[in-house]
Amino acid sequence: MGRITVSVIKADVGSLAGHHVVHPKQIDVARQKLQMAVESGLIIDYYVFNCGDDLELVMTHRRGENNSEVHELAWETFKEVTEKVSKPLKLYAAGQDLLAEAFSGNIRGMGPGVAELEFEERPSDPIVIFAADKTEPGAWNLPLFRVFADPFNTAGLVIDPKLHQGFKFVILDVFKGLEVELACPEEMYDLLALIGTPSGYVISRVYRKDGLPAAAASTTRLSLIAGRYVGKDDPVCIVRAQAGLPAVGEILEAFAFPHLVAGWMRGSHNGPLMPVSLKDAKCTRFDGPPRVVALGFQIRDGYLEGPADLFDDPAFDWSRRLAMEVADYMRRHGPFMPHRLGPEEMEYTTLPQVLEKLRSRFKKVE
Ligand code: F6R
Ligand code: MG
Ligand code: MG
Repeated sequence: MGRITVSVIKADVGSLAGHHVVHPKQIDVARQKLQMAVESGLIIDYYVFNCGDDLELVMTHRRGENNSEVHELAWETFKEVTEKVSKPLKLYAAGQDLLAEAFSGNIRGMGPGVAELEFEERPSDPIVIFAADKTEPGAWNLPLFRVFADPFNTAGLVIDPKLHQGFKFVILDVFKGLEVELACPEEMYDLLALIGTPSGYVISRVYRKDGLPAAAASTTRLSLIAGRYVGKDDPVCIVRAQAGLPAVGEILEAFAFPHLVAGWMRGSHNGPLMPVSLKDAKCTRFDGPPRVVALGFQIRDGYLEGPADLFDDPAFDWSRRLAMEVADYMRRHGPFMPHRLGPEEMEYTTLPQVLEKLRSRFKKVE
């Protein structure tokens, strides 16, 4: 079986009806390109899907993380989708996330989001791939914490001897580009002190205490790369499950609570993260509310068996209902915080212009 790498690389390269949904022809072109890469032996298997306006490429291979050929394949796929479909069909925001002129060895930092996990394939190896639309990488902080550190979510932390020792989290400071590793349960309060600010600190990886890789998340902040608003980053995440790791049901349980995340309309509002099936992975009301899908796969000698569309289940109806109640409640705040994000986090703002226009009219208070 040996070592296998799962690479999930995604980009918004244009969509149908505004920032709504990927066009079926975009998916076709991406599939053709990845099929050729299977035939040439570059990758073993692939699965292409979309979450809202984001095109998601799942690839398996034996080339390890940050492999330049695999990254180039993803880059060329997004380019080709843009040139062959997004531009000719005049889809909205064609090529939006492709911020670099040409590929330069590693797709990280060029716009697309990347989550990669290399591991020794177990005799039976289930994984869950999450993809979200209209939010940012910090949206995974709360659920990943609950999956790997909260005994009220994950029963196995308490009652399974193989999980009982806990997990290590790698936290990225997105502004400084620095990482720190924190172990749970010992350093739980330090961890929470950081990841409670999801706009600044994001969980990038999780390991079991014995070093077994358990999860990896995308951490791209497009606006920090481009220095201007270019859409929220609509993150992806890979989580391994079962047999000494959280069960699939423990992993999904963390999403039963539709927590508030930054994103939604114009990347500038807080709203609930609604767990949905693939068919409902499209944002409508106020360009939202933000959505998350979960696809379950079995890895078989490097091949992807699946997916199972895990939120396609009435067990999550109540969470979706609650999400819509929260959406309605938040919407009633209109332009007021905390529905609208704070000034430092807004992706669209007129504040500098408004302040400039009013500058001469501001009078000193005696
Ligand atoms: C949020 C998002 C949308 C757009 C909004 C305005 O991530 O993609 O909410 O920000 O539809 O888009 P433009 O400025 O392209 O008209
Ligand atoms: Mg878009
Ligand atoms: Mg999107």
